[in-house]
Amino acid sequence: MKFSSRAERIEPFYVMEVAKAAQQMAREVAATREPMIFLNIGEPDFTAPPAVQEAAERALRAGSTQYTNALGLDALRERISGWYAERFGLQVPARRIVVTAGASAALQLACLALIEAGDEVLMPDPSYPCNRHFVSAAEGRAVLLPTTAEERFQLSAAKVEAAWGPKTRGVLLASPSNPTGTSIAPGELRRIHEVVRARGGVTLIDEIYLGLSHDDAFGQSALAIGEDIVSINSFSKYFNMTGWRLGWMVVPEAMVPVVEKLAQHLFICASTISQHAALACFEPESIAEYERRRAEFRARRDFFIPALEALGLPVPVAPDGAFYAWADCTQAAHKLGVQGSWDFAFELLRRAHLAITPGRDFGSADTQRFVRFSTANSMAQLQEAVARLRALLG
Ligand SMILES: Cc1ncc(COP(=O)(O)O)c(C=O)c1O
Repeated sequence: MKFSSRAERIEPFYVMEVAKAAQQMAREVAATREPMIFLNIGEPDFTAPPAVQEAAERALRAGSTQYTNALGLDALRERISGWYAERFGLQVPARRIVVTAGASAALQLACLALIEAGDEVLMPDPSYPCNRHFVSAAEGRAVLLPTTAEERFQLSAAKVEAAWGPKTRGVLLASPSNPTGTSIAPGELRRIHEVVRARGGVTLIDEIYLGLSHDDAFGQSALAIGEDIVSINSFSKYFNMTGWRLGWMVVPEAMVPVVEKLAQHLFICASTISQHAALACFEPESIAEYERRRAEFRARRDFFIPALEALGLPVPVAPDGAFYAWADCTQAAHKLGVQGSWDFAFELLRRAHLAITPGRDFGSADTQRFVRFSTANSMAQLQEAVARLRALLG
C-alpha cells in the first residue's frame, strides 16, 4: 500500500518503545517487592471531580447528546471567558473562544487555518513532539531552535529575529513547556511577539499547562499581550479530563469564522457530553478541588526535584509549572556504566523498575543528555522512587 508523503514525514514516537517495555516489565514485576513505578506519564493521576462526573451523568440521562454548534456550547464559552477574568484578570470575550476536541484538535485547526504548504514555524528544542507534527500535517515545516538553560529552554526574541527567514510564518511556543515545565518570562514573550508582529507573522502559544502554574511571576496568559495572539488550552491537565477530549483556543476575532468552517467540516463539534460536564468545572467546589490538587502538584515538585539533584540528576531550570522535571543524566548514566539518556532510561527500567522518558522525541539539540521525570504520581510513589534511585546512585 502506498502512503502519503505527509504521513511518511511524521517521525516515529520513540518513547512509546520505552512505554511498551515498561508495561511489559510491569506485568513481570507486579508481584515482587519492587513493582513498576511510572514516572513517564504525561497526564494527571487525578480524575474529574465529583461535580463534573455528576454533570456528565445528568447530560447522558437527559439525552443532551446531540451535536453542538461547531464553536461549542455558548454556556461553556461564557464560563471559560469567566475563568480568564477570575483567575487572570483578563477580559476574553466568549465570541473569541472555540471549544475543541482537546488542545490537539485546537492545534490542528490553528495550523490548518494559518499555515501554507512550505511555511516554516519556529519552535524551541526541546518541545512537545506532537506540536511539530501538527505543523507538518498542515504541510508546513517546524524549525527547531536549540535553547539553553539560561533561556529557560524557551525561545528568545533575539533568537526568533535571527532565525526569521523568507518562509517563516510564525512561532509555536508552549508555556509552561512539556518537557521542561518552564515558562517564558512575560517580558521576553512580549518581545518575541513584537518581533513576530513586525514581520507579519503569527504567535501561537500552547498554554495547556498554564492552569498548573506554581509561580505568579510566570503564571500569566499570553492573551494579556495582544488580541492577535492564538492561545491553545485544554481541560486535560489542570481540569484533570484527559480522556474526555475537550479543549479550547482563543483566536483573533477575524479568525473565528475560518476556524468555525474548518471545525464544522473536520470535527462537527467536540464531545457534547464532555462539554456539559465541563460546565461544572467552574463551580466553586470544583475550582476549590482543582486548587487543592494544584497545591499537591507543587508539593510533589518541591519534594522531588531537590531529591533528584542530591542524587546527581541536576534540573538546570526549576519548573514553574506543569508536573515535569527535565534532568541532566550525564553523571548518573556514567555511574551506571551507560551513556546517553536513552540507555539511562532503559537501565532505570531494568534495575530499579522506574519508567521515565528519555529526551529523544523532544528534539535533537541536547536531548541525549536529558530525561523527563513526571511527578504526576502520588507522594508515596515519588518517595519510593527516590529510595530506589538512592540505592542505585547514592
Ligand atoms: C504541551 C502539550 N500540548 C498539547 C497536548 C495535548 O493535549 P490534549 O489532551 O488537550 O489534546 C499535550 C499533552 O500531553 C501537551 O503536553
